[in-house]
Amino acid sequence: MRILVTGGAGFIGSHVVDSLIGAGHEVGIVDSFWAHGGGRRTNLNPNAQLFELDIRDGALADVFARFRPEVVSHHAAQHSVAISTQDPGFDADVNVRGLINVLGLAASNQTSKVIFASSAATYGTPQYLPIDEKHPQLPESPYGITKMVAEHYLRYFAASAGLRYTALRYGNVYGPRQDPNGEAGVIAIFSGRILAGEPIRIDWDGEQQKDYVFVGDVARANLLALDRADNEIVNIGTGIGTSVNALHQAIASVVGKDVEIVHAPKRAGDVYRCVFEIGKAQTVLGWSPLTKLPEGIEKTVSFFKAT
Ligand SMILES: NC(=O)c1ccc[n+]([C@@H]2O[C@H](COP(=O)([O-])OP(=O)(O)OC[C@H]3O[C@@H](n4cnc5c(N)ncnc54)[C@H](O)[C@@H]3O)[C@@H](O)[C@H]2O)c1
Repeated sequence: MRILVTGGAGFIGSHVVDSLIGAGHEVGIVDSFWAHGGGRRTNLNPNAQLFELDIRDGALADVFARFRPEVVSHHAAQHSVAISTQDPGFDADVNVRGLINVLGLAASNQTSKVIFASSAATYGTPQYLPIDEKHPQLPESPYGITKMVAEHYLRYFAASAGLRYTALRYGNVYGPRQDPNGEAGVIAIFSGRILAGEPIRIDWDGEQQKDYVFVGDVARANLLALDRADNEIVNIGTGIGTSVNALHQAIASVVGKDVEIVHAPKRAGDVYRCVFEIGKAQTVLGWSPLTKLPEGIEKTVSFFKAT
C-alpha cells in the first residue's frame, strides 16, 4: 500500500514509518521539523520519500496528487499541553485546521482511510478506572480539546465522504527517539538525566500513576489498523499503572547509578491515576501490548546511551 505518514520524522511517527516499510509498504513522510517538536532528520527512514512541509500548507495538495496515498497516518501535531495553554489559537491552527487540510485532501483524492493519533488527554480527570472508550470526554487542556474535536471531524468525514478512520487513543508512549528535553516523556527525561548524572525532578509525591506503552507496540497497532477497526476509536495502553517513583527506581537500576531528586509541587492539570481498559484493542484490532516495562526501559536507556 502507499501510505503517507504526517509527523513521520517525529518520535512515534518514525517508528510507524519503520514498521510500515518493514511490512513492505511504500511510505511518504510529511513533516515540517517544527522547532518545538520531536522531529529529527536522524529519525528518517532512508526508504521513505520525504515531503518537507507544513500540514496547513496549500502545497499539501501537490503531495496528495504526486504520492496518491491509499492510507494517511496522521501523527503531525502540536503535541505540547503547555504550549496549548499558552497559545490555544496556535494549537487549534495546527491540530484542527491542519487536520482539516489533511482530511479534505484525503477525501477528494483516492485515500480510503486515515489513522489518527489521539490521546488520553481527551478524557480529562478519570471518573472511573480503568478508562474505557465510553468514558466521558472532558478534556482539561486546549490540546485535549483539539484531539477530541479531531475525532469528531474523522466521524464527520467518514459520514459525509466515506473516508474510513481509526482513532488510536494513546496512553503515555515511551521508547527510543523520544525527545528527552520535552515536557512529557518522563522515561526519556529520566534516562537522559540519570545517564548524564544530572538531578531529576519529581512532581507531587511521585506516586501518581500513568499507563506507559512502548512505542514498538504503538507502531504495531498502527500496522494492524491499516485494514481493521474501521470507524472505531481504540485505547492503546497496557492496562497497568506505574508510578513516577517506580519509574525512577527502574531506570536508575538499569543505568546502574542514581542522581539527586528535586521535589516540586503538582503540575497544573496532572492526573493522579490514569490506566486504560484495553479489551477493545484486542477485539477490534487483534492488538495487545507485547513489551513489558523493564524490557522497554532497557531498550530506551540503550538508545540514549548510544546517542
Ligand atoms: N508521545 C505521547 O505519549 C503521545 C500520546 C498521545 C498522543 N500523541 C500524539 O502522537 C503524535 C506524535 O507525537 P510524538 O510524541 O511522536 O511527537 P513528535 O513531536 O515527536 O512528533 C510530531 C511530528 O510532527 C511534526 N509536526 C509538528 N507540527 C507540524 C506541522 N504543522 N506540519 C508538519 N509537521 C508537523 C513535528 O516536526 C514532529 O516530527 C502527535 O499527534 C501527538 O499528539 C503522543
